[in-house]
Amino acid sequence: MAKLNDNYLKLPGSYLFSTVARKVREYQEANPDKKVIKLSIGDVTQPLAPAIIESLHKAVDEMGKAETFRGYAPDLGYEFLRNTIAEKDYKAKGCNVSPDEIFVSDGAKSDSANIQEIFSIDNKIAVGDPVYPVYVDSNVMAGRTGTYDKVKETWSDVIYMPCVAENNFVPEIPKEVPDLIYLCFPNNPTGATIKKAQLQEWVDYANKVGAVIIYDAAYEAYISEADVPHSIYECEGARTCAIELRSFSKNAGFTGVRLGFTVVPKELKVDGVALHGLWARRHGTKYNGAPYIVQRAGEAVYSEAGQAQLKAQVAYYMNNAKYIYNGLKEAGYSVSGGVNAPYVWLRTPGNMTSWEFFDYLLEKANVVGTPGSGFGPSGEHYFRVNAFGSYENTVEAINRIKAL
Ligand SMILES: Cc1ncc(COP(=O)(O)O)c(C=O)c1O
Repeated sequence: MAKLNDNYLKLPGSYLFSTVARKVREYQEANPDKKVIKLSIGDVTQPLAPAIIESLHKAVDEMGKAETFRGYAPDLGYEFLRNTIAEKDYKAKGCNVSPDEIFVSDGAKSDSANIQEIFSIDNKIAVGDPVYPVYVDSNVMAGRTGTYDKVKETWSDVIYMPCVAENNFVPEIPKEVPDLIYLCFPNNPTGATIKKAQLQEWVDYANKVGAVIIYDAAYEAYISEADVPHSIYECEGARTCAIELRSFSKNAGFTGVRLGFTVVPKELKVDGVALHGLWARRHGTKYNGAPYIVQRAGEAVYSEAGQAQLKAQVAYYMNNAKYIYNGLKEAGYSVSGGVNAPYVWLRTPGNMTSWEFFDYLLEKANVVGTPGSGFGPSGEHYFRVNAFGSYENTVEAINRIKAL
């Protein structure tokens, strides 16, 4: 008789964004005349840049001719894309990453969820708190997180590293030694980032204790300040302790196109075994490659025209971020983020919980954001507003909040 993976049954409640969507739907059904502005789920709104569209069209045409048709893509991804990534994302920025250490995928969500598979179930994970929920939930599904405390909303076998105003939303090295450390900078949801010297401390620590850092750099394109690392491989020694995840979703608007990659350096070993080989085996067995046309679109991201167009796109969102940050500050809120990331993180007023503030904004301003508590216990009394809307909607939403 079939048996369930009952780890799935341990997952608490519904997914954060399903709850947000349900509440918004119910509100709109009850108030059909209200124009609700959503600055909640981190999805982009600007269309794909012309250079990318051009490349997609060309690749589609190639697929229609026998001479240029392509079937299954190579396991790691097409060389034209991996060579470009190695050159432009790494070599040009002083990082040593070779094309065959890059595994092209359909995005950072799946990679960040799947990477735990190559590690023993006995590993103890450490996560920032608040955190992108996928890191924890994927480890719950694997059975690595122990039991859930409904009151504290924490797992017994997870090390939570509070990211709060006092530490500028950058986790401190925990007292208990973790085996796997998930770091995400620029951060979702706080919009915080880490200085190079601080990241170097993490790298040194991981090398010292034999931990592996899973570094999610999905928002790297939004970094505007110097001294903020774009890649963990800018740190000395990262090649022996870190895996890096990247996405084309936020730098190039590929949330619906789907493309990302993971870097596993060949020097990175656990128990004397190179993780590169394990991830290659996993990738080859469980994944059949990002589509050719999408990988060509990814290549266009790095073309001269693509780079210029995407720089403007990121600037568009960051202009929204600035409007949100300044507007909320003027309205008296305590805000952070929004400088190297498309997220502004605000402290809820008074002693309102994150969900109370969510309901308040929805009802009084018809604006939807994301309750910080949905990202972990230290997110309670915080709220995330994202900069991915249109400028007009962003301005209207912030002006409505200011008028409350
Ligand atoms: C921190 C972080 N990692 C990964 C992802 C997922 O990226 P992708 O669209 O490439 O799956 C997101 C999406 O919001 C994210 O915030």
